[in-house]
Amino acid sequence: MSKEKSVAFLGPEASFSSIAASAIFGNSVSRRPQKSIHDVFSSVEKDESDFGVVPIENSTEGSVTVTLDEFIGTTLNIMEERDVRISLNLLSKSGDMGTIKKVYSHPQSMGQCRDWLNINLPSAETIIVASTTSAALFAADDPEAAAVASIKAAETYGLKTVAKNIEDLKNNYTRFFVISKLPAALPTGNDKTSIVCTVKDKPAALLSLLKPFADYGINMKKIESRPDRKKIWEYNFFIDFLGHRDDLPVSAALEKMREETVFFKILGSYPVDIKKTITVAVDGPAGSGKSTVCKRTALLKSLKYIDSGAIYRSVTWHCLEKKKDLGGMDFKDELNDLDIKQVFTGSGACLTFVNGQDVSSLIRDETILNNIGTVSDNPDVRDFVNTLLRKWAESESVIMDGRDIGTVVFPDADIKIYLDASVDIRTSRRIKEYRDMGKKVDENSIKKQIIQRDEQDLSRKYGALAKAEDALYCDTSSMTQDEVVAHIIEIIDRAS
Ligand code: DC
Repeated sequence: MSKEKSVAFLGPEASFSSIAASAIFGNSVSRRPQKSIHDVFSSVEKDESDFGVVPIENSTEGSVTVTLDEFIGTTLNIMEERDVRISLNLLSKSGDMGTIKKVYSHPQSMGQCRDWLNINLPSAETIIVASTTSAALFAADDPEAAAVASIKAAETYGLKTVAKNIEDLKNNYTRFFVISKLPAALPTGNDKTSIVCTVKDKPAALLSLLKPFADYGINMKKIESRPDRKKIWEYNFFIDFLGHRDDLPVSAALEKMREETVFFKILGSYPVDIKKTITVAVDGPAGSGKSTVCKRTALLKSLKYIDSGAIYRSVTWHCLEKKKDLGGMDFKDELNDLDIKQVFTGSGACLTFVNGQDVSSLIRDETILNNIGTVSDNPDVRDFVNTLLRKWAESESVIMDGRDIGTVVFPDADIKIYLDASVDIRTSRRIKEYRDMGKKVDENSIKKQIIQRDEQDLSRKYGALAKAEDALYCDTSSMTQDEVVAHIIEIIDRAS
């Protein structure tokens, strides 16, 4: 039996490194949160963990110098790079801005929202701590304190959100490295190599070091100097460039560069991270046109469309198959053997499968809507659906529609949109839809149905319909479908 692999990262759980470790490894490894970045390196060096995840640089604040310094003395290899989007939030026990006198955070995160804090909390004292999670622990203990941390930290440490997404630059990414004792990854044709070196003490030493890049046509992506911690006024250069150490011309250039140095180390060759996924969350009332607009946008922007309503419908269908009257049903039991899959076809249809059976048309039956209230207001069902949706969005770019996608399921979604339309407009759209399908319709009962569904969606105890504070509001009442799709595409293009 093979031993379960393990990953070390700067903890505790809910830190940004822990979020990065989950994004890279999912649930497939055992997790070893560490007290410091130094401990992450030692844990892998001492074979206590197979892999380490360390932050290397942030798009707003620059390099994580502690990590760079650790690379000088280690024999570990960089196996992978991964960019993780970082959303920062102000969290406190009460959720009330008025009571905050102190703000705790990690120096990097504090730096990423400096302007926001200066404008919104000019007289609060800012206190630097070892991690965003220890900041959350301080805030959980002191009613006058707040923490700058992840939304996950709020859930984990029982804090309320005072303000969401307070980072000064919304395009805020941190680049992480996966480190291990394994040999370098094989060339993929789109790789990067990282080295660290110290040049000889002579005129134009840096120019000589970098000349092979020009001679061999190698694209340098980054250069950073750090003071050598052993010799005063000597510097180490950290350099990233495109290409794999085993491929020509990189291998030839590396040999030439080595001759120009007194210290030279290849830190790793690894595939370039091109898996930057985006999550688009679209919420709004029934009949606002969400699903049609999302499917068309998905096709035009190569996103996967996910229909969360269809999942609630599928759970309801499954439960009704088991028991005609859902009163007193233990949903937790029913969810155990429930396998739901969704496929978005190249022609723009979204098919839903329950335990292998295509239920796409069965879940549109009247009886489903008559029973969905009980099912969709159950906390176990909501947890089940939320976990499923988060898992689906982990590895690919998605556009999802629902009622609570931007508020509960993906409060950190890259783009949040709330689509609305008046009751009369939604009624007339639904009537047209039914007529186009050749169905006979009673206009009054359609309007009544829309009003009833609004009441059900708005009053649900768990995951009730609401506009996320930072969602873009779009009233589609006087817009054509083409106009709404064009508007959403413009928002996506602007953000990416
Ligand atoms: O989008 P729809 O009409 O297929 O959704 C069916 C029901 O599922 C809707 O009335 C409320 C529930 N739902 C929910 O509670 N949360 C979501 N994210 C999506 C749907």
